[in-house]
Amino acid sequence: MARLSYLSAFAAFVVFRVSAQTAPQYGQCGGTGWTGATTCPANWSCTFSNAWYSQCLPGSATTTGPTTTVSTPVGTGGSTTVSSTSTASSGSATLAPGWSFVRAVEDPNFHKYLQSQVLGTASPAVLGDYTHAAQFQVVNGQLIQNADGSNLYAIVEPPANSTVVKLGLHWSTTPDTLGTFVFSGDSLEWSSPSVKRQQNNAWLVCPSGTTLSVFINLGAYAYMTPAGCADETLNAYTGTTAVP
Ligand SMILES: *[C@@H]1O[C@H](CO)[C@@H](O)[C@H](O)[C@H]1NC(C)=O
Ligand SMILES: *[C@@H]1O[C@H](CO)[C@@H](O)[C@H](O)[C@H]1NC(C)=O
Repeated sequence: MARLSYLSAFAAFVVFRVSAQTAPQYGQCGGTGWTGATTCPANWSCTFSNAWYSQCLPGSATTTGPTTTVSTPVGTGGSTTVSSTSTASSGSATLAPGWSFVRAVEDPNFHKYLQSQVLGTASPAVLGDYTHAAQFQVVNGQLIQNADGSNLYAIVEPPANSTVVKLGLHWSTTPDTLGTFVFSGDSLEWSSPSVKRQQNNAWLVCPSGTTLSVFINLGAYAYMTPAGCADETLNAYTGTTAVP
């Protein structure tokens, strides 16, 4: 009996330790065997996906506390009191291990996904429907698209002159030589020693007809946004499939 109490106290301690951490936006926050953070940032909720995976998604389950904690059932994937806010869609391909979807998280392009204008080919970088979401890795500063097993590299168009406020982005079979991509947390950033920009995670999405072209924003996020364009950040998403 004494031993049992000791174990209970230990278990409580472990739960406390885990809950004290906060998972990143879109990060995993629960699931069978998950020992990481179970708390989501303010106004994000830990959303049950399946018995093995819960994820921090935008939206608050409560408006009272600064954080929302949801524990996922351990053991069987049986009943749960947590309802999913994302449909169990299988519209996109399943994410390959080690790769990420990349998507915008701000309106008017909320959950539009990075891809090639002509899917899976060396063509302009655009945002599009989740059903066509491409998969990415950053390796040695290169943003690589998995085009059916072969690599496409994100190429940033060099600035033509000092008045240019945004740089185009396209996919190529050869690597970029201008700058460096990096995921900072889940946020996609780009910098270059030869290009001055104010914020490395500031992107622009500018529609042309139905095409949502992606640009590097050389100015500050949401400041002097070029006409017709929308400020966006681009964020890695590692759910099993891309979701709307
Ligand atoms: C969370 O949402 C509430 C209500 O919309 C808002 O007042 C508050 O500033 C938000 N907190 C954060 C950290 O975004
Ligand atoms: C700078 O480059 C842009 C894009 O090529 C061009 O439209 C603009 O006329 C150029 N401005 C100057 C001052 O050269």
